Amino acid sequence: MNIENCVALVTGANRGLGRAIAEALLQAGAAKVYAAARDPASVNLPGAIPVQLDVTDAASVRAAAGQCPDVTLLVNNAGIALGSGFLGEQAEDRARQEMDTNFFGPLATSRAFAPALAVGGGGAIVNVLSVLSWLNVPGQATYGASKAAAWALTNGLRGELESQNTQVVAVHVGYMDTDMTDGIDVPKTRPEDVAAQILAALEAGEDEVLADALSRQVKDSLSAQPGVYLRPPAG
Ligand SMILES: NC(=O)c1ccc[n+]([C@@H]2O[C@H](COP(=O)([O-])OP(=O)(O)OC[C@H]3O[C@@H](n4cnc5c(N)ncnc54)[C@H](OP(=O)(O)O)[C@@H]3O)[C@@H](O)[C@H]2O)c1
Repeated sequence: MNIENCVALVTGANRGLGRAIAEALLQAGAAKVYAAARDPASVNLPGAIPVQLDVTDAASVRAAAGQCPDVTLLVNNAGIALGSGFLGEQAEDRARQEMDTNFFGPLATSRAFAPALAVGGGGAIVNVLSVLSWLNVPGQATYGASKAAAWALTNGLRGELESQNTQVVAVHVGYMDTDMTDGIDVPKTRPEDVAAQILAALEAGEDEVLADALSRQVKDSLSAQPGVYLRPPAG
């Protein structure tokens, strides 16, 4: 898709990767960038239009879709990571919260905005996933499950939206330097670099972004013997 003159809505655009994507879109000449956030007052990005959107709240999703009928690019970026194994004390509660935000959230927004994308000629949806869509580690097991579900959603949407000419882009990344990884001392990709790769993939009509070395390595190792997902690194 052509970024210049597109009308984008980015979820979770008040900080982290979402803010970086919204900023990159403005710099690339998007006609309009709706910066969606649970608290629109927390959006601090000159040129962007703050919109209230909690992706877990059906009424909020409906209201945002009504308020932004001209969207041609939906970026499903909002996400949470609660750091739970499957056998942790709060595992079921955390799994539900993560599924609500990371799977049911993009499901609801994609359903709500798909008609607007069709009216605009097809447009595009970007789903921010993770390297943990492909492997499961003890410290982020419930999060990984939600991102695996969101990967399936992304692939399913691509098929269902093909007839209306909507490009659907999956973004896989390992550690990024945002609040989500605060206190984790590992090499991290800059969100600005990931945002630039997303825009390049949109422009090139691609389906997938492997935004860092870890994502590329894990993707390559899925079909290795043994598959990387059978014995993932501890984390
Ligand atoms: N950081 C990493 O290492 C990493 C790696 C792989 C994938 N990711 C994915 O990248 C995406 C962006 O994360 P980030 O690293 O930028 O994390 P972040 O700095 O923690 O930002 C998360 C964003 O999601 C928003 N959000 C959370 N729940 C929401 C809800 N119910 N409705 C609307 N917005 C909501 C937050 O809004 P509030 O300010 O209101 O909380 C915030 O804007 C997520 O999907 C995450 O899973 C991150």
